[in-house]
Amino acid sequence: MSIIQVENVTKTYKSGKGIFDISFSVDQGEVFGYLGPNGAGKTTTIRQLMGFTNVDQGRCLIRGMDTRLQAEEIQKFVGYIPGEIAFFNNMTGKQFLDFISQMRKQAKSRTAELVTRFELDVKPKISKMSKGMKQKVALTAAFMHDPEIYILDEPTSGLDPLMQKTFIELILEEKKRGKTILMSSHSFEEVERTSDRAGVIREGRLVALEDVNSLKAAQRKAFIVTVVSSGEVELLQNSNLEISRITGNQVEIIISSNYDEFIRVLTKCSVKGLDVLNQNLEQAFMKYYGREAEKNE
Ligand SMILES: Nc1ncnc2c1ncn2[C@@H]1O[C@H](COP(=O)(O)OP(=O)(O)O)[C@@H](O)[C@H]1O
Ligand SMILES: [Mg+2]
Repeated sequence: MSIIQVENVTKTYKSGKGIFDISFSVDQGEVFGYLGPNGAGKTTTIRQLMGFTNVDQGRCLIRGMDTRLQAEEIQKFVGYIPGEIAFFNNMTGKQFLDFISQMRKQAKSRTAELVTRFELDVKPKISKMSKGMKQKVALTAAFMHDPEIYILDEPTSGLDPLMQKTFIELILEEKKRGKTILMSSHSFEEVERTSDRAGVIREGRLVALEDVNSLKAAQRKAFIVTVVSSGEVELLQNSNLEISRITGNQVEIIISSNYDEFIRVLTKCSVKGLDVLNQNLEQAFMKYYGREAEKNE
């Protein structure tokens, strides 16, 4: 069953930028990665989804409720992290978290657990906090009422690598607990590690909707085989395997699904080394991104 539905949403800014006819849905218990370079339209989509402004066209539903009409009701079971966080800077972290809890009339609270987990010091005023600390406050606010649904706009931005890891672990735990999660990111790796499905947005348009596992399975892998003699290099060259590079006795071979054949050929050689080149989803998605992704890296 679809918990989050974005249906043909268009929102155009005066500049002509915006998002155009975006549709996707997120099922119960699913983690959906919303991937795109800076300026692609991720925040615009998520703000429409949260029902903050009127869309030009289309509609967004959460648990079947129109987010524009039932925003208040919906916020009770949604944990949201905005892309650009505007805080009440005069409050301390603790005051802010207490304020949000009261506003939600929150019955249960994981605040203490989250504060410990993110090593967050809630005593300073928010205006005195670093970007990373503010992000941790936002994460705590989004998770502390233990909501069923998370809508997270670039949740790891500003976090150091260790905290990014802590965050990803938390997401995977929440996923195990059956939560439904929509998370935007410009990091392929993050989506690869967390998401079941991914949508790619580019220049305001959804250019791909893919199952992350099948993307991974369809991925081509490069192996570097080190053999003993030039005769064996020749043997590899004369096989049906796809050779991408040869350096001395090292042969780089591209494998997609032909593992059987790869192993058959290898048994005819004295293999001294076998390495797999570290690849990730990025290569699989690259075709959707073109040059822009390279600029943003
Ligand atoms: N309030 C706004 N007014 C005018 N243009 C905007 C506004 N918000 C975003 N944009 C433009 O819309 C495009 C998409 O922005 P955004 O949704 O923030 O992208 P992302 O979150 O993927 O980085 C960008 O070109 C951005 O400059
Ligand atoms: Mg954004």
